[in-house]
Amino acid sequence: MTEALAIRLADYQPYTHLVDQVSLTFRLAPTATRVKARLDLRPNPARGGGGHDLRLDGEGLRLLALAVDGRALAARSDATGLTISAADLPDGPFVLETEVEIAPEGNTALEGLYMSNGMYCTQCEAEGFRKITFYPDRPDVMARFRVRVEGDLPVLLSNGNPVAQGPGWAEWDDPWPKPAYLFALVAGNLRAHSAPFRTKSGRDVALNIWVRPGDEGRCAYAMDSLIRSMLWDEQVYGREYDLDVFNIVAVDDFNMGAMENKGLNIFNSKFVLASPETATDDDFARIEAIIAHEYFHNWTGNRITCRDWFQLCLKEGLTVYRDQQFSGDMRSHAVKRIEDVLMLRARQFREDQGPLAHAVRPESYVEINNFYTATIYEKGAEVIGMLRRLVGDDAYARALDLYFDRHDGEAATIEDWLAVFEETTGRDLAQFKRWYTEAGTPRLRMTDDFKDGSYTLHFEQENPATPGQPVKGAKVLPIAVGLLGPNGDEVVPTTVLEMTEPRQSFRFDGLPARPLASVLRGFSAPVVLIRDLRPEDRAFLLAHDTDPFNKWEAGRALAKDLLARMVVTGAQPGPDWLDALERVTLDDSLDPAFRALCLRLPSDDDMAQTLHASGHVPDPAAIYAARRRMGAALAQRLAAGLPGLIASLAEPGPFTPDARAAGRRALRLAALALLSRVDGGAAARAAFAGADNMTEEVGALSCLLDIGEGQAELARFEARWRADRNVMDKWFALQIAYAAPERAADVTRALTAHPDFDWKNPNRFRSVIGALAGNHAGFHHGEGASYALVADWLLRLDPLNPQTAARMSTAFETWPRYDADRQGMVRAVLERILATEGLSRDMREMAGRMLG
Ligand code: PHE
Ligand code: ZN
Repeated sequence: MTEALAIRLADYQPYTHLVDQVSLTFRLAPTATRVKARLDLRPNPARGGGGHDLRLDGEGLRLLALAVDGRALAARSDATGLTISAADLPDGPFVLETEVEIAPEGNTALEGLYMSNGMYCTQCEAEGFRKITFYPDRPDVMARFRVRVEGDLPVLLSNGNPVAQGPGWAEWDDPWPKPAYLFALVAGNLRAHSAPFRTKSGRDVALNIWVRPGDEGRCAYAMDSLIRSMLWDEQVYGREYDLDVFNIVAVDDFNMGAMENKGLNIFNSKFVLASPETATDDDFARIEAIIAHEYFHNWTGNRITCRDWFQLCLKEGLTVYRDQQFSGDMRSHAVKRIEDVLMLRARQFREDQGPLAHAVRPESYVEINNFYTATIYEKGAEVIGMLRRLVGDDAYARALDLYFDRHDGEAATIEDWLAVFEETTGRDLAQFKRWYTEAGTPRLRMTDDFKDGSYTLHFEQENPATPGQPVKGAKVLPIAVGLLGPNGDEVVPTTVLEMTEPRQSFRFDGLPARPLASVLRGFSAPVVLIRDLRPEDRAFLLAHDTDPFNKWEAGRALAKDLLARMVVTGAQPGPDWLDALERVTLDDSLDPAFRALCLRLPSDDDMAQTLHASGHVPDPAAIYAARRRMGAALAQRLAAGLPGLIASLAEPGPFTPDARAAGRRALRLAALALLSRVDGGAAARAAFAGADNMTEEVGALSCLLDIGEGQAELARFEARWRADRNVMDKWFALQIAYAAPERAADVTRALTAHPDFDWKNPNRFRSVIGALAGNHAGFHHGEGASYALVADWLLRLDPLNPQTAARMSTAFETWPRYDADRQGMVRAVLERILATEGLSRDMREMAGRMLG
């Protein structure tokens, strides 16, 4: 399709020039902001010195003035930038000055300089800086920035350290060279929640979280998370903060979660603001993780950045890996790992097994904004986890030290990253590198045999074809294995088997009896494990496995096997699963958070993925019905014990967001959801009425919606929270998430007519349109009403905000799984999208790739 427009890794060349210093002056005005730029440039020796034209990126800029070394030049800008002929440039260093005018108020794409509730803010990753001024907008051009902001607003912020300020102006200087995508500016009527921090070598840092007046009281948890992140990065990675200030700003209109701009992180307000009354336990956990993620980018992303956008996983995979480690240290490693794997399967496996599959390091793209994906982020983190398992913790630490030493201040590549591991360990990582260059989820088949005291595991890996990659080689798979004896004792502790061949066997000798293997402990490799195991063996693992991830996984597999049988053959839930789950639920020696995870049934989408992978055509209505039956059977079975369990988990005293308290609430609400299936919602209604925190309030409301009740509670919730954007997002999303399949499209349509459905706000759009895409049975129901509704809204949003519209088009990425009718309907919708005049490049690429 758009082959001609594709950017290719193979075409990389260093930039023609180096930028030593950038000085920017902003005169802010909603419809006519002036940006003056002064760039100190010189020819790049890596491109053979002088003689090259100077090409600068620029989009939507009104060029007012252009001069080289003070000499005005006639302007020759086009739709994507500006070229100055080598003939107009001196041989050595020179100064380029430009002045442009931009209109932040009309910027609905939320990329570049835009406005949100009267506040100016920027988003430059990946290629937004070119919407602010003419510049080589690529990550390998690193420069020092000095910024003067002029505007009639009380708070004027940019990157780095404050230099000077007066009424209506402020100057900032960032001593660390950085690529333009890390530039940021914020101006508005903001209030700070502040705290001091001293780094381990004694630098005093002023920490500020900037919010709209009235929100100051909801910053404490984010600040606490920031301080813990800073301490953790010092202790675990030896990384200190490197400026005198660290500013975080909360913005209501934001396309993503947050952004790691140097010294000035900008956050989607829903990942900063929290109080017990307005935020759920999940919100608290996410805030902690995202604050950490953005802070950790200061080293993995900012001090060491990416040479080009193909290397995006270099910063994102590593930073996700680091934030996952951090959350595990702060909370529970077992629970965090289970949650991360649930997410990986729900988003990354789904992507990797469909038409949008791409490598962790892709070779080409049309629009880079389409590549901020679960594969780059989450699979990118998994690959690092595997690398660490293969080389060991000490070697990992040494490799990271070398990485930071060697590449500080540089724009690096995956080759640089792998080289530090090769050099510290002496390993050859050529085969391992396939994890970066080849897409797709490997399928790992396992069988075993036992004879004369020898137990052998046989593995076979299959690496399925993905778009553009028909054949691929065997992967290096770290397979963590432990063996359990017949009485449940662990006879062989966790051992990492290293599989490198398409087929490979591993033998354990000297065993008195046939053991039961616990395979892929901790989910040691992101693969689909295929293993025939009797339900009683899975139940045995659920009861005895010492590896908490595999203990959970055994219960999960039991549930999935059963649910698949219920869907395909109409089976009823048998005693294996019910007995096993009852034992876990009532086992007080187990962490309540872990038990809550065990009670979570596989999602409909997860089942559709699983059924498809095992050769079935998933029927969304049948999956939905079976899952309801499964929940009902579990509720019946546990009914007698639920009130006691719920009472025993009551938390006396005020709300605290820590993991222990959150885990108890999670189990209590899981029990309440089951109880609601048998008591008509009486207990949930009481819990809603008595709730003194948002976790309870949303939890109890969800229980009611799940059984088709809760209309009065919805109305009360709305009356109470009408003025709170972040809380109202939950109100919108819940109704759609819990709508019965045949009602989902209608409920969504009705909510799009609600006066507070501000569809230009990405959070609100996702809460409504995204919630419909996430209601599996509702999205795929009947004659495609939901497909059409989602497509209509994507097409409406696309001209205003292509980035968010294109990202949400992934609602359609699973179409090849389903029956011919549904395939035909989705194809027709995607073709309608593609045929739309004026479609964004973002959406065109996505729809084109999904159609294949
Ligand atoms: N780099 C950001 C992060 O991972 C994500 C992001 C990408 C935000 C593009 C905005 C735009 O933290
Ligand atoms: Zn990131």
